[in-house]
Amino acid sequence: RSYEGKLQVELAQLQHLATRLVRGWSHLERQKGGIGLRGPGETQLETDRRLIGKRIKTINSRLQKVRSQHRQGRRLRNRTATPVVSLVGYTNAGKTTLFNRLTGANMYVADKLFATLDTTLRKLQLTTGSHIILSDTVGFIRNIPHDLIDAFHATLEEIREADLLLHVIDVSDEQRRARIDQVNAVIREIGADRVPQVMVYNKIDLNGGIAGPAGLFNGTLPHVRVSARSGEGLDDLKQIINKSVFSQRHEHVLRLPPSASKLRASLFRSGVVIEEHLDESGSWIMHINVEDTALRRLCRDHGVDVAQLH
Ligand code: GTP
Repeated sequence: RSYEGKLQVELAQLQHLATRLVRGWSHLERQKGGIGLRGPGETQLETDRRLIGKRIKTINSRLQKVRSQHRQGRRLRNRTATPVVSLVGYTNAGKTTLFNRLTGANMYVADKLFATLDTTLRKLQLTTGSHIILSDTVGFIRNIPHDLIDAFHATLEEIREADLLLHVIDVSDEQRRARIDQVNAVIREIGADRVPQVMVYNKIDLNGGIAGPAGLFNGTLPHVRVSARSGEGLDDLKQIINKSVFSQRHEHVLRLPPSASKLRASLFRSGVVIEEHLDESGSWIMHINVEDTALRRLCRDHGVDVAQLH
């Protein structure tokens, strides 16, 4: 929780500073005989107050995000087999805007499981037959201070456990290339670099870009251009999510030792088992047809390394 603690300390300091500035302001006002005589010092005060007010707003919204992520963490681990897609990206890339835009239309859905979830975790219907859970996260920042890394690890655990990452990039940010590297460095640092990524170039309304999917990025990663503000490109984004999460069904032959009986039961419950038989050592040889992401998730939930089953 120390990241939350740090934010709280910074918030308290800023509020203290803000009070002092307000006092300074009225003091100066009296000296100069009221409005209409604004000296350069007063303008500076105004600017300071505005900047501090803005920073207080930012810190408050981060606190809110961090807190709701703490609350949702446990639920996420106990979740159903629904795939989880996490929004990641440098701070200010537009993750929350995109999250609201994508899931807003689903808010009315009276689904008991999701009705109780926090705003940072919501169901997103992709097609009539498929849905995912979309999760919003705290924005990444450059050079996370060392004492915060631990706290980040906890907060960002859901990113590591996600089935797909939507890496949101602000196309109007001149430093976007550096930001992509910084975000990827954090992703590596928290051990989430095995989770597949889709690059989402956001805010195309600001640079006149054309919405839609655009093949491959760096030869491997799909990418799509969108505007969370205008809604352009979001249907393409949903299609890409759908394809990335649901269309890699493969047949696998697994050997499950008797100790993996709970995983076996889950495989049956998920309806992916084609057939099974026992071998001479008492292990189950199971033929299954399942999406790669779902298999990884099921194994992970049961603490089994999927590589050892093949
Ligand atoms: P953090 O919470 O700091 O991680 O930020 P975030 O990535 O969640 O960004 P957020 O959604 O708060 O958006 C940041 C700013 O960008 C806001 O002022 C949004 O209104 C703006 N924004 C987001 N998407 C778009 C877009 O598609 N076009 C334009 N013009 N502005 C956008």
